[in-house]
Amino acid sequence: MDLEKLLADRLAPAFATVAGEPVDPAVRRSQHADFQSDAALGLARRLGRPPREIAAEVREHAALADLCATVEVSGPGFLNLTVADGALGGLVSALAADPRLGVPVAAEPETVVVDYSAPNVAKEMHVGHLRSTVIGDAAARTLDWLGHRVLRANHLGDWGTPFGMLIEHLVDLGESEAARELSMGDLDGFYQAARVKFDADATFQERSRRRVVALQGGDPATLRWWRLLVTQSESYFLTVYDLLDVTLSAADFRGESSYHDLLAPTVEELDRLGLLRRSDGADCVFPPGSVGRDGEPLPLIVRKSDGGYGYPATDLAALRHRTGTLGATRLLYVVGLPQRRHFEMVFAAAAQAGWLAAPVRAEHVGFGSILGPDGRMLRSRAGGSVKLVGLLTEAVERATALARERNPELGEAEAAEVGRAVGIGAIKYADLSGDRHKDYVLDWERMLALDGNTAPYLQYAYSRVRSIFRRAGVAARPDAGLLLAEPAERALAMELVGFAPVVEEVAGSLEFHHLTGYLNRLAVAFSAFYERCPVLRAEGPVRESRLVLCDLTARVLRQGLDLIGIRTPERL
Ligand code: ARG
Repeated sequence: MDLEKLLADRLAPAFATVAGEPVDPAVRRSQHADFQSDAALGLARRLGRPPREIAAEVREHAALADLCATVEVSGPGFLNLTVADGALGGLVSALAADPRLGVPVAAEPETVVVDYSAPNVAKEMHVGHLRSTVIGDAAARTLDWLGHRVLRANHLGDWGTPFGMLIEHLVDLGESEAARELSMGDLDGFYQAARVKFDADATFQERSRRRVVALQGGDPATLRWWRLLVTQSESYFLTVYDLLDVTLSAADFRGESSYHDLLAPTVEELDRLGLLRRSDGADCVFPPGSVGRDGEPLPLIVRKSDGGYGYPATDLAALRHRTGTLGATRLLYVVGLPQRRHFEMVFAAAAQAGWLAAPVRAEHVGFGSILGPDGRMLRSRAGGSVKLVGLLTEAVERATALARERNPELGEAEAAEVGRAVGIGAIKYADLSGDRHKDYVLDWERMLALDGNTAPYLQYAYSRVRSIFRRAGVAARPDAGLLLAEPAERALAMELVGFAPVVEEVAGSLEFHHLTGYLNRLAVAFSAFYERCPVLRAEGPVRESRLVLCDLTARVLRQGLDLIGIRTPERL
């Protein structure tokens, strides 16, 4: 049970009695006690009484005797709450006995579509796709664990005018040569070569244009070549997902092309609803609230002047499908912040059309860029986009070298496994541990460091706890009573009961740095505990109690890291 909520539930009736109306007790962690409630301050003006007096009266009415050792009025009118050791121990025992570590399954499971990764066919995945993949996968895993029905949608860019030129280039190379190049993962090379021809050669340009028409017209040979491009790219993306250890599979590809048949009906419906307006020969929606710098309303182009549909129309069709047909009540779009305006407009237009109405909601889960050490957008040495596979391989190699150096006893296979878990973990953690709206600098030294707010630090903490049990050949008894006499034991217990509220908060905000920050505090609290409180050298009930604290710490670290797709090897 969530301690914050427990205290709030006890305080709420007392506040209601004093205020004569429902009041949110606003309980939060405090530096002066375990928790504090500030609600009296907000009531002072309304009740025309000094806040300290209100707080004192609430204190009289609140039934907190079994939960709190002390309840004090402090400062201008805070209520400082110190939890009783016995109550805290009881909560920790309940966690120890709960396979879900105090995190309940959602009372009302939802169907959630997580739109993430979404690279483009015949183009290298760039670091923006890396962020989308990492953040989206954390969202999918977390919501899954909470019992929601998660539909992963990999909105691959697999349709549109560039395919004319790509197919013509494929035809020039011959199918088998093209397949060979693409299967080596040289997507950018293929794309650039097509682009160079397109820019330099007028006949190639003309062929490409005709090819787009053939593709849209469903010409069988053209479709076959298009599919070859798509499947080669997909299999390359799947190797990246495998390396990155994300839960996306071949079954989750929902390329733009899959909404092809829904485009015309979607736009027709917009027309019937009277939402279309012609502007410069194109059919547009002007969603309310979207204006440019000049104050003019901004158009969302749903049918271009040549009759073709583009990116916005596809997103509208996909959204309509997700809410209308799939019955999703929450839509997540894990896409970089540069597309913010696009999603604002798509959501506003969909709301106007009635495809997105409360309680159904759509959220753009935006994120900033990854920067190189120079503080500029991450680029390869040649100035092009950084190849993701190269980046991931480098992470794994660096981590494997570190693992070998630290622990020469690790066998070859185990070192490789540890290197993979640590290297990939470090990349993911670096991505998730900062406010996702901000840019971050890719810094190998820092993200692979064994101390600080890093994945290796948490993985190391986990393996350290596990080694206690391994060394002694003991297990924790979940029914052992908790003794929290030492401040370090108490502080660790306090962190352990904080897991459930943080998971719940993160499932809503998708701000995973709150979860990583929590896990880091937990590991720090464990380290302080382990320094001051001998475990195996302790005896009797103290030893039993400490073993429970150790075991729970390991379980929370493991579960917490699993929610964000990071593995926890038993030995580092
Ligand atoms: N393929 C797009 C890109 O690389 C991202 C697609 C995001 N998802 C969506 N439903 N628009 O920028």
